[in-house]
Amino acid sequence: MTPFLFLLALSSSVTAKIVSNVSYASISADIVLGQPLDGFVSFSIEFASFPDFAGKLCPIYDVILIIGRTTHKVVGNASNPNKFSNNLLNNLGYLIGTKPYIRVGGNTQDYAIYNPNLTIALNGTVNATRSPDYPTTIEIGPSYFESYSTWPNVKFTHGFNMGGNHDSRQWATLLETAAIACKTLGKDKLNWWEYGNEPDLFATSAQGPVRPSNYNESDYVSEWLAATRAIKGVLAETCPDMLSNETYGYLAPSFAGVSNHLKAARTWADGLDTDGTVRFFSSHNYISGATSPGVTLQGTLMNHTRTRSSVDAHVSEFAAIAAAAPGLVQILGETNSLYNQGKPGLSNSFGAALWGIDFNLYCASVGIGRVHMHMGTNYRYASWQPITTDLAIVGTKAPYYGNVAVAAFLGNLRIEPVRVAHLELGHSGGNGTETDVGVKDSAYAAYVDNALTRIMVINMRAYNYTLDGAGDLDTRNPASRKTRTYNFGVEGFEDGREAVVRRLYANGSDAITGITWDGVSYNYELELGKPVRLTNVTTGEKVSVRDGAIEVAVPDSQAVVLDFSAV
Ligand SMILES: *[C@@H]1O[C@H](CO)[C@@H](O)[C@H](O)[C@H]1NC(C)=O
Ligand SMILES: *[C@@H]1O[C@H](CO)[C@@H](O)[C@H](O)[C@H]1NC(C)=O
Ligand SMILES: *[C@@H]1O[C@H](CO)[C@@H](O)[C@H](O)[C@H]1NC(C)=O
Ligand SMILES: *[C@@H]1O[C@H](CO)[C@@H](O)[C@H](O)[C@H]1NC(C)=O
Ligand SMILES: *[C@@H]1O[C@H](CO)[C@@H](O)[C@H](O)[C@H]1NC(C)=O
Ligand SMILES: *[C@@H]1O[C@H](CO)[C@@H](O)[C@H](O)[C@H]1NC(C)=O
Ligand SMILES: *[C@@H]1O[C@H](CO)[C@@H](O)[C@H](O)[C@H]1NC(C)=O
Ligand SMILES: *[C@@H]1O[C@H](CO)[C@@H](O)[C@H](O)[C@H]1NC(C)=O
Ligand SMILES: *[C@@H]1O[C@H](CO)[C@@H](O)[C@H](O)[C@H]1NC(C)=O
Ligand SMILES: *[C@@H]1O[C@H](CO)[C@@H](O)[C@H](O)[C@H]1NC(C)=O
Ligand SMILES: *[C@@H]1O[C@H](CO)[C@@H](O)[C@H](O)[C@H]1NC(C)=O
Ligand SMILES: *[C@@H]1O[C@H](CO)[C@@H](O)[C@H](O)[C@H]1NC(C)=O
Repeated sequence: MTPFLFLLALSSSVTAKIVSNVSYASISADIVLGQPLDGFVSFSIEFASFPDFAGKLCPIYDVILIIGRTTHKVVGNASNPNKFSNNLLNNLGYLIGTKPYIRVGGNTQDYAIYNPNLTIALNGTVNATRSPDYPTTIEIGPSYFESYSTWPNVKFTHGFNMGGNHDSRQWATLLETAAIACKTLGKDKLNWWEYGNEPDLFATSAQGPVRPSNYNESDYVSEWLAATRAIKGVLAETCPDMLSNETYGYLAPSFAGVSNHLKAARTWADGLDTDGTVRFFSSHNYISGATSPGVTLQGTLMNHTRTRSSVDAHVSEFAAIAAAAPGLVQILGETNSLYNQGKPGLSNSFGAALWGIDFNLYCASVGIGRVHMHMGTNYRYASWQPITTDLAIVGTKAPYYGNVAVAAFLGNLRIEPVRVAHLELGHSGGNGTETDVGVKDSAYAAYVDNALTRIMVINMRAYNYTLDGAGDLDTRNPASRKTRTYNFGVEGFEDGREAVVRRLYANGSDAITGITWDGVSYNYELELGKPVRLTNVTTGEKVSVRDGAIEVAVPDSQAVVLDFSAV
């Protein structure tokens, strides 16, 4: 049993069933719960996109992307911090008690070469053969690091370049960026370092291999130890107050998956943590790929079974490592729906927001301490688009509303830590309708001091409000949206006890806009991402316990929180 999983005899247990049209499965009174860390709702920002998300302090700066022969000034004048991003981070911090931790990394971290003479933040060249979505040749200048100073009360992970991109300046880059990053972040803004993104793909990468095909775990471990010791040497000279166990350490190994060229358990056996500097076991996960065959919203993302098996693979991998490293906690340092930046119409839809809730809460329930949702400028799966580019306009995107629902369900973890249980809502042979076949709903319970405090229900049935999900607002789907009733046995709760009902609302799983959490919009065009209560959405609904159970009706493609603590 890992330290963040608890098996408890709870003072109030919960059983669950769906009473309309679907069968039910109840859970036993003793359930395994995971305890999320503070800042459970966190982000990973693509290294090359970070200046777009954060903005800068200096009055004039540029990020240039050279695409083919066309030069795009992605940010020509951002004399100010990106306030929109900061507002969205504040909203989450307000709900969960800590502003999201930001890991700055991803594929482009291993392309970034430091040029002390570069007068702009970042000069990136996109080679569409390698990737149409981000530059694969990158120089960063000293002003890149100013982006670390624009968001108050945010802690960062800076990802150092390990891959090298076949550039002879790689080692010099490491030493120079270590000095500038430690000076910029200082111990108050650092949430551990990272050396290398997805090195398990270095020998096989679709964007171009950077290690020989016989690269193995012991090669990786020697490189990792040599470079992290070199970073420590730089810190000893430049930032000597950042060497204590509380301030110096790494997220590692940041592997892309559990079955690639390198295996995490083997790196442990080969001595990755020889120096005792790995603070979190960080893994990456994607449910599938943007162009993988057969990917659909219902079958791939709004599919609880699939989400579980994707996460369970990490739980199994980690179990072997945790056995030898007591106290170590697993996090997902980079994750999202579909790799290759997401699929249009799927990863940016409300259905993906519902997937995000299920994915994050399932992670919490199995002891994954923190989840960094990945994003970059123009990425389809991003929670928000930070600036307007020629490819996408600035705005809050559907997945952000999933982040909000997760944060609201977990509550302020600094004041009231919660433990999260996954509730089994199965089809156990009752009266299911045809359309229910293969769809599993999802539900979670949050416990404070072992007492049931909130329940999350996610109705995972896709409902298109535009005809065939085509997004044409003038052509509505004639099929009506069904509502299911969910019934939770709440042992130990007196009849009449009330719960406030908060809904994550959208017109359908195909919606990409018009989304609200408990009647609140966080859209850019209203108050630059600050919460705005809308008047056309019902709120303040309550349900109460009757005969030891509580019941709530949930339309297809909606998530609902029952909050017992709010009344
Ligand atoms: C349950 O299924 C029946 C028959 O298919 C249908 O008439 C009814 O509307 C359904 N109820 C709900 C709540 O979806
Ligand atoms: C930058 O933008 C601000 C506000 O939009 C404007 O006042 C300022 O003149 C701009 N500066 C430059 C150098 O373009
Ligand atoms: C930076 O510019 C200075 C002065 O032009 C030059 O001497 C130096 O070699 C340059 N450094 C790099 C890394 O290009
Ligand atoms: C940006 O990089 C390209 C090559 O990738 C180079 O041609 C161009 O001069 C660079 N621009 C600046 C401002 O350094
Ligand atoms: C783009 O990348 C491909 C694949 O690595 C390479 O063959 C090609 O030369 C690159 N194009 C440019 C303009 O660098
Ligand atoms: C890993 O590769 C290195 C160098 O390529 C080699 O010396 C070593 O024997 C390999 N280790 C294993 C366990 O295969
Ligand atoms: C710091 O951590 C290392 C490795 O876990 C351990 O050996 C050492 O005793 C710790 N030092 C302090 C001062 O706690
Ligand atoms: C959900 O995913 C599982 C596992 O990948 C798959 O077997 C099942 O068919 C999927 N369900 C739907 C409705 O596509
Ligand atoms: C399910 O409900 C339908 C319609 O009410 C009924 O005809 C059927 O016999 C029921 N099936 C079972 C397994 O209860
Ligand atoms: C919704 O629309 C998509 C096409 O965008 C289609 O693939 C899917 O089957 C539709 N879902 C439902 C439940 O009708
Ligand atoms: C959602 O549906 C309502 C009611 O039909 C409509 O007024 C509204 O414009 C729709 N929102 C979006 C974003 O399509
Ligand atoms: C509520 O109002 C907002 C903004 O006026 C609009 O975007 C949204 O579609 C409306 N929602 C519904 C359900 O009508």
